[in-house]
Parts: sequence; C-alpha cells; structure tokens
Amino acid sequence: MTQDELKQAVGQAAVDRLLPHLDDQSIIGVGTGSTANCFIDALAKHKLAFDGAVASSEATAERLKSHGIAVYELNSVGHLDFYVDGADESNEHLELIKGGGAALTREKIVAAVAKTFICIADESKLVPVLGAFPLPVEVIPMARSHVAREIVKLGGDPVYREGCVTDNGNVILDIYNLSIVNPQQLESDLNAIVGVVCNGLFAARPADVLLLGTKDGVKTLE
Ligand code: 5RP
Repeated sequence: MTQDELKQAVGQAAVDRLLPHLDDQSIIGVGTGSTANCFIDALAKHKLAFDGAVASSEATAERLKSHGIAVYELNSVGHLDFYVDGADESNEHLELIKGGGAALTREKIVAAVAKTFICIADESKLVPVLGAFPLPVEVIPMARSHVAREIVKLGGDPVYREGCVTDNGNVILDIYNLSIVNPQQLESDLNAIVGVVCNGLFAARPADVLLLGTKDGVKTLE
C-alpha cells in the first residue's frame, strides 16, 4: 500500500469508529493535514448522520464546507465527544508532535475540549522517541528572536519557517536536533517562554486512541 492509501484507510477507520456514536446533535472536532483530509472525505459520505463540525484551521473549515458539512465556532459548542486529527510523530504513549501544517494552536485547543482524541496516522509516524521531526512552535512575530535564543538555551536548534503565517497571524519556529525523552516537561518549558503562543508537543493532553495504518491493516493503540 502507498502512504496515501494508508492515510485513506485510517481516515475510513476513524469514521467507522465514530459512526455508532453519532446522532443528529453530534458535532465533531476535525484536525488539519492530508490524513485529516482523508477523514473529512470519508466522513462526508455520512453527513446526514451528524449535525456538523468544529474545524482546527481555515483550510479544514473550507474543506468541510465544500462537502456541505456545517462548521461551528468552538465558542458556540457546549462539548465535543470526539476530535480526529493526524500527527507528525507519535510515541507508544500517544504523545505527539503536531504542527507540520502550522495549525498546532487551534488543534491543541479543539483537542483540549474533546472528550476523546482519535489520532490517525500511517505507520511511518510511530517512533520510539519524539524529535526526529522538527518541533513546531507558534510565536508572536515580535518575539521571534527572543524565543529563538531561549530555545537554544534548552538545547534545540530553532529555524524560522520562512513565508509561513498561521491562521492566528503568528510565525513558526521549527526546533531541530531534539531527542525528547520527557515530552511533558519540554511542552511546559516551551510554554513558559514569553512570546510563545503554543508548541507542537501534545503530551499534557496526548491522544486517547491511535489508529495506525500499516501494510497489514489498521492497528489500534489505546
Ligand atoms: C497540522 C498537523 C498535521 O496533523 C500533521 O502535520 C500531519 O499532517 P499529515 O496528515 O499531512 O501528515 O499537525 O498542523
């Protein structure tokens, strides 16, 4: 199977997992990226089975609307039973690196609200130790140099993601050369730097379920 086929398989597996729990009141939190897009496309075939969605990015909102799925503001929604999103890396504890698509802040907010976070990924994303994928950090633009210097003190090599402006009007620093043995501690340390909006470690609130696309089928870790 190609990587795209694995992404389609996990997108469909997430829909299959959700369907028994949906009714005409259900609102689903939806992530961002190519794997999340596979989920959206599979979910659209069942759009009469639920009410609508909360999107973690403008791009996802557009894709949902293009399928005729209602998109709600998070502030207008009382609770979310499910959030479904991809990841750049996951360890066996379902702690994640996210933000390759620069949507990390809204993704983390929607994930925080959801009762169950279902992560969908192809098998290349499961790693023993997080950090081979550069860790994205969303930063207030005027704080970029300050935050970069503080990241160096923490042992990372920050690189400004040229030409990238987030949906929140901020910039991204990608941290290279980290071997993240304590993801919760690093998530907290990065959040403590003045000027950091959010970082791409999802460790304080990891995924609850990982649907992993492998050549032998979709495996479930939870
Ligand atoms: C976007 C994300 C994505 O979930 C992550 O980058 C994975 O993307 P893809 O499914 O395209 O590999 O965090 O900010």
